[in-house]
Amino acid sequence: MTESTTIRWEQDDTGVVTLVLDDPNQSANTMNQAFKESIAAIADRAEAAVQADKDAIRGFIYTSAKKTFFAGGDLKDMIKVGPENAQEAFDAGTAIKNSLRRIETLGKPVVAAINGAALGGGYEIALASHHRIALDAPGSKIGLPEVTLGLLPAGGGVTRTVRLMGIADALLKVLLQGTQYNPKRALENGLVHEVAATREEMLEKAHAFIDANPESQQPWDKPGYRIPGGTPANPKFAANLPAFPANLKKQTAGANYPAPRNILAAAVEGSQVDFETALTIEARYFTELVTGQVAKNMIQAFFFDLQAVNSGANRPKGIEPRQVRKVAVLGAGMMGAGIAYSCARAGIEVVLKDVSAEAAQKGKGYSEKLCAKAVAKGRTSQDKADALLARITPTADPQALAGCDAVIEAVFEDTSLKHKVFQEIQDIVEPDALLCSNTSTLPITTLAEGVSRPVDFIGLHFFSPVDKMPLVEIIKGERTGDEALARAFDLVRQINKTPIVVNDSRGFFTSRVIGHFINEGVAMVGEGIEPASVEQAAAQAGYPAKVLSLMDELTLTLPRKIRDETRRAVEEAGGTWAGHPSDSVIDRMVDEFGRPGRSGGAGFYEYVDGKRDRLWPGLREHFTKPGHEIPFKDMQERMLFSEALDTVRLLEEGVLTSVADANIGSILGIGFPGWTGGVLQYINGYEGGLPGFVARARELAATYGERFAPPALLVEKAESGGKFSDA
Ligand code: NAI
Repeated sequence: MTESTTIRWEQDDTGVVTLVLDDPNQSANTMNQAFKESIAAIADRAEAAVQADKDAIRGFIYTSAKKTFFAGGDLKDMIKVGPENAQEAFDAGTAIKNSLRRIETLGKPVVAAINGAALGGGYEIALASHHRIALDAPGSKIGLPEVTLGLLPAGGGVTRTVRLMGIADALLKVLLQGTQYNPKRALENGLVHEVAATREEMLEKAHAFIDANPESQQPWDKPGYRIPGGTPANPKFAANLPAFPANLKKQTAGANYPAPRNILAAAVEGSQVDFETALTIEARYFTELVTGQVAKNMIQAFFFDLQAVNSGANRPKGIEPRQVRKVAVLGAGMMGAGIAYSCARAGIEVVLKDVSAEAAQKGKGYSEKLCAKAVAKGRTSQDKADALLARITPTADPQALAGCDAVIEAVFEDTSLKHKVFQEIQDIVEPDALLCSNTSTLPITTLAEGVSRPVDFIGLHFFSPVDKMPLVEIIKGERTGDEALARAFDLVRQINKTPIVVNDSRGFFTSRVIGHFINEGVAMVGEGIEPASVEQAAAQAGYPAKVLSLMDELTLTLPRKIRDETRRAVEEAGGTWAGHPSDSVIDRMVDEFGRPGRSGGAGFYEYVDGKRDRLWPGLREHFTKPGHEIPFKDMQERMLFSEALDTVRLLEEGVLTSVADANIGSILGIGFPGWTGGVLQYINGYEGGLPGFVARARELAATYGERFAPPALLVEKAESGGKFSDA
């Protein structure tokens, strides 16, 4: 018999065995090799004990000695699974599932006392228990988020949720979105049976369940069990089934996300067979995913890169962390209002300043609306909402900024105005206050010339809508000090957002790269390609926003203004301006047709009462060449490649210094498709690797223009067998 090293067997004198999950070598429990051996040893011991004396054991309680219940699969191992070791991974998964199943079917009650996060594999252990009690601890999350890493829950997660709540609920509430529920919402949605306020209460409830259910069984192991809501074998259910693939297509826009497809297949096929066969089906679909490129991309980005970025790989070392107490937000427009809300939500006092008290109050009104909505939806309490609002002081008086230890400026995009507002307040705020600008395009180094302490001046580029968008791009100007960079980083983490760090350049990383995506879409319209196909290509590539609709949102005049300014700057510096095939389309849309985008009431789309309606039929009249088509793959890759190639140029120029920042920034900031793992991981994972990507870029360059020519850094890496990585 092997020994259990990660699970402690603690039996009390009434015969209740607490299985304490406690991996001595890790801060969190995972489904690693040691767990596989431990759970097998526990199953052996449990079976032997019950065989020797039927009444020796009255029941089992899984709980953990860590802060979290159980973290799930070991992603360090999973990202390495290729076709060559797929069988090994399959067997390891099967072994764990068999052990859990043996305990589940021993004829004794099994309770999961979930003392903290139980995501993925952690929730699968809970599902293999007859009764689930969640401790209402802050930050506790429950669910099966595998889909967000391009995987499916193959520890019985698909098979058991389908049997617990029926195919439709399992798919929609748990599997397809990977929703993470707090304990109360987990209870409402049927993921757990009870919630406890304290650890003692949780364990009391666990013992009470065992006392009351000495011969407990899973519903699916009871005679006559049927899957709630029926299965495809039932004609009524079968009539609804065709809607699932259609919904799925809507959810993923048909883009390259194999996980939802495999989850659907595993759920439906598994519902028509017995439990054990369903587990095998689930495992087969998992193996297909884990050996594929998309899961590797998504694990790299959403786990490893995100962790690196948030943990401060880019924060200057050796500088004490600092928290902001009171922040001044200058400008209470769309961005300022959102920034004020996000800061107040994180517990920071906010002074929200605009030109008039009315304008400032209007900015605070945005927080009032968001708070009212959160209270109505039960996401926060009235007390918490009131406290949040009490932290925001709207004002037009610069003196109200006294005591602020950070300033975030979000007035109109105009250098001299920005200089003016900083001059007005820089002697009123704390003498060492951090000075930030939320400019989306203006060089930070130039803005810093207008303040008395350029060493404390930095770019803090938020995205709209601020309360929802998780990314902030930190821009280091030429004279920004390391202390300011560290403080800016800490501030972004304090408000629970993800910071990427870049060096100063026009448009920084995000604004510059998203411009290529948009320009490419617009250029295709100019070439005579059907606009609806262009939109479809963007959606199917996996972009969350269609390209022409995004252009309309941003307004056509804005990129035009930036383009003209950039051209002037390039020419003044003695360079030549190459221009872009989209230029003439944008000029004609604005000058000839008077269609500057959504805010102007007309753009590539028509708008009815401010709402986007259909593509403007005039596009076909003025731009489309009937019958002119290019391969769909070319349309998609023109967008993806234009962004990827410019990102490499940004690395060459030293604007970007970290691969993880590029990947995370592209997905969270500008909607680069998540299945790629981010803009540089897209190159790493392209068919044929970097050489394959270079060859394809050259093909696109030959057909569509020199802007697709691969930069030197890319060619060098491809030739030397390298790839983009921070390691
Ligand atoms: P907005 O036009 O909604 O708001 C600007 C606000 O600044 C207005 O309320 C205006 O009254 C106020 N303001 C003007 N002069 C002022 C002064 N002297 N003192 C105090 N307040 C003054 O503009 P929005 O969209 O909020 O943009 C603000 C900044 O954020 C710009 O630099 C913009 O480039 C940048 N940005 C915008 C994004 C967007 O999606 N709209 C995204 C990221 C950055």
